[in-house]
Amino acid sequence: AWTAGSIIDEQVAAIRARVGDAHVICGLSGGVDSSVAAALVHRAVGDQLTCIFVDHGLLRDGEREQVERDYAEGMGIRVITVDETDRFLTALTGVTEPEAKRKIIGREFIRSFEAAQRRVVEEVGAAGGEIRFLVQGTLYPDVVESGGGEGAANIKSHHNVGGLPEDLDFELIEPLRALFKDEVRAIGRELGVPEKIVARQPFPGPGLGIRVIGEVTAENLRVLRAADAIAREELSAAGLDGEIWQCPVVLLADVRSVGVQGDGRTYGHPVVLRPVSSEDAMTADWTRLPYDVLARISTRITNAVPEVNRVVLDVTSKPPATIEWE
Ligand code: XMP
Repeated sequence: AWTAGSIIDEQVAAIRARVGDAHVICGLSGGVDSSVAAALVHRAVGDQLTCIFVDHGLLRDGEREQVERDYAEGMGIRVITVDETDRFLTALTGVTEPEAKRKIIGREFIRSFEAAQRRVVEEVGAAGGEIRFLVQGTLYPDVVESGGGEGAANIKSHHNVGGLPEDLDFELIEPLRALFKDEVRAIGRELGVPEKIVARQPFPGPGLGIRVIGEVTAENLRVLRAADAIAREELSAAGLDGEIWQCPVVLLADVRSVGVQGDGRTYGHPVVLRPVSSEDAMTADWTRLPYDVLARISTRITNAVPEVNRVVLDVTSKPPATIEWE
């Protein structure tokens, strides 16, 4: 029978056998999946693990600080943060097609890990001067939706599966590859990963890059970040975090519509609220949020973010839509 304990024992033994005394890096996003993968590998090889947190410039407001704080407090694992904003934004210049964005982001993550590996070798003196193993928190649904499942179509390339470059030099360690999110959360709790990390709502590796419909520019990211922060604040204040699976906020940078503010015409962009309820992200329903919460989010966003003059609600289940817009 499946228990969190038995999976942990099995994976710890397998990781030890594979890694020996080599040094290992883990791509950490601060989310549930990579945190639990890191905790599992840490249980197996302890100090031979260094986590790399890539700030790709596609994070939400305050996210980098929050991840750094939560890890310093709760995990006891060495984390190196690298600021790679320029790398990602340069690579994404002029790109609007969703799969192209995903492939670029997947590739630049790996390039960032390669660059960081040199720092790890210097700072922790990893034996042999190079690092062979990269830990990723890939889950079963990531594999299926990237077309890796049996007979599965490629719905979208998750950054850590279908988005990987062909010239990947690392050997991947993916201890969660057969699991769903609820199982990963159970394993995380068993491993003592702090509740505020285990219970965190999903956020995709490609971040806000796949929530700007259109070109991912610093300016579009700034607008989306401001709107997203307001939506998250109001959902938390209404006590709804535990009820929704996640609520992407999406900026339709390619769409403009006419509005009126004060005594003037505006020609701004819509943002979409995409609150969803789900068990495992393979299917989802749109969450029936209270009207007063929606009203507050809408009023606050349009007051505070001048580039946005319309807030719309996505009322589509998955299928036929997916959770993220790209
Ligand atoms: P979709 O949009 O496929 O999303 O219905 C399903 C779940 O997966 C998250 N998601 C990703 N997570 N890398 C990730 O780590 C990705 O490339 C990625 N794409 C989507 C999404 O937020 C939702 O929870």
